[in-house]
Amino acid sequence: MSESAKPESERRKFRAIKGTRDILPPDSALWNWFENTARSVMESYNFGEIRTPIFEETGLFARSVGLSTDIVSKEMYEFDLHASDAVHTSRLLYFESRSALRRMGRLYHLVTDLESAWQSNRIEQNDKNKRVIDELRSIYDALFRDLADDKALANADGTPEIMRLFYRASDLMLEIDIAQHVVLRPEATASVVRAYVEHRLDTRPGDQKLYYIGPMFRRERPQKGRYRQFYQIGAEVLGASDAPAIDAELIEMLTVLLERCQIEKYTLLINSIGCANCRPAYVELLRAELRKPEIFERLGADSKRRVEANPLRVMDSKLPEEQEIIEKLPKISQHLCDDCKTHYEKLKRELALRKVPFTESPRLVRGLDYYMRTTFEITSPILGAQNALCGGGRYDGLVELLGGPKGIKGIGFALGEDRFIDAIQEAKKVHATRTADVFIAWMGENAYPAAVRLARVLRDAKHVVELPPAEMKFRKALERADKAGARYALIIGDDEIASKQLTIKHLADGQQRKIAEDELVNYFGSKRN
Ligand code: HAM
Repeated sequence: MSESAKPESERRKFRAIKGTRDILPPDSALWNWFENTARSVMESYNFGEIRTPIFEETGLFARSVGLSTDIVSKEMYEFDLHASDAVHTSRLLYFESRSALRRMGRLYHLVTDLESAWQSNRIEQNDKNKRVIDELRSIYDALFRDLADDKALANADGTPEIMRLFYRASDLMLEIDIAQHVVLRPEATASVVRAYVEHRLDTRPGDQKLYYIGPMFRRERPQKGRYRQFYQIGAEVLGASDAPAIDAELIEMLTVLLERCQIEKYTLLINSIGCANCRPAYVELLRAELRKPEIFERLGADSKRRVEANPLRVMDSKLPEEQEIIEKLPKISQHLCDDCKTHYEKLKRELALRKVPFTESPRLVRGLDYYMRTTFEITSPILGAQNALCGGGRYDGLVELLGGPKGIKGIGFALGEDRFIDAIQEAKKVHATRTADVFIAWMGENAYPAAVRLARVLRDAKHVVELPPAEMKFRKALERADKAGARYALIIGDDEIASKQLTIKHLADGQQRKIAEDELVNYFGSKRN
């Protein structure tokens, strides 16, 4: 039985993949309001939008976010850019074949697989692959046509000429660009820095102040406020200066956004995690402390693993039984070099100057490897377990690490849009639902062309208009208008056409007025910019 012939209860239904979700009206109106508000705040600080691809080379994140981080080691969605499994397998089989006869058979499969992968774009269609495939085909033809008769294949290796061609074929096979490993981006700072280096943005005058809005992907355990596809709004400043005023202004910008969203319950946590001069000694001190048996034995499995790989991360463990131990560990703030100490002190003065209240948190080390000096997070008690609204910090060596020019500094943040929306809804102060301004209640064939024309006139004046596609009895239409939350019903029937006077009903109080068509836009007021 075809799927559509089955009763509805038996038809296969599809659901959004675990950890992903649909954002529907009216919630989407709040998302749009929030994005527009964030854009206008960031643009008032002279940030410009950057849009980068959603997938990037795996190596970009491995190198910048760091191999030992949870994000890179466990949470990335990785795939091959070209689905060339068949080619990959037949290449392996070719290398494993022991006799000339076997190898001939494997070569046949490989060449045909390669040609069909090329045709269906499952391997990269570049010049190198074309050259390799053509040469492999000619080797194969030469072997079959001229060389590999029964006599030649009687010997396991074939003749010296056959062997030479097999060797050449092996070399060629290693040259094929079979696959490029890519991932769905788990964050966007690495992408922004990649784009900065790729497009030589360092040659543009002044600091580059860039913002982005878009989905990120991490294979985390889904729960409230934690998704596998989630949305971030982030901003990055890249340039020659690491002045703490840049850090402070970026943080101030975030507090302005919080204010516009009327989120009042939040805490700004700040810390400095030092630099390449002072951090290594601190990390060693921390590791030595954590290795002490009386401490090590009390750590959970994750922290035990981190003692060697990345002891700083023990600091942000949330395990209740580790809290007492962590409180007593040496604090990085007491081990900063003079430059880092001065930078941090200036940051605090710059924040005070901007009247931005903050709390120092020596445990705020952040889970990504690229950070140095300033780190910060904004948490909100209204969010529950996933309470980080946003996080960020300085990453002065990253441009260089990703192949860019020396001496370029960077700082940025990303906020979790999903969590901001929750916080806005919890605070219940901003309402951004969108309903129709005008519902056009038309009746009769004569009224319809006027209804279509007037809908257009009102929409051009930026009004939200609902025009029912089929005729409705007036009473039904007015009920529908009311339910849709429209403010006005514009009534057009035979009487209105004959008298050239439109009827407008105010749905809040039921009052009706008559107006001439050319007064319509004035009556509602134009919303045109
Ligand atoms: P992050 O701390 O990994 O930093 O993420 C920033 C924010 O994204 C978090 O505070 C949280 O609000 C949100 N977020 C993270 N994971 C999820 C998730 N699974 N579901 C929902 N929301 C989530 C970064 O991504 C850095 N790139 C920030 C940055 C920019 N640092 C410098 N520049």
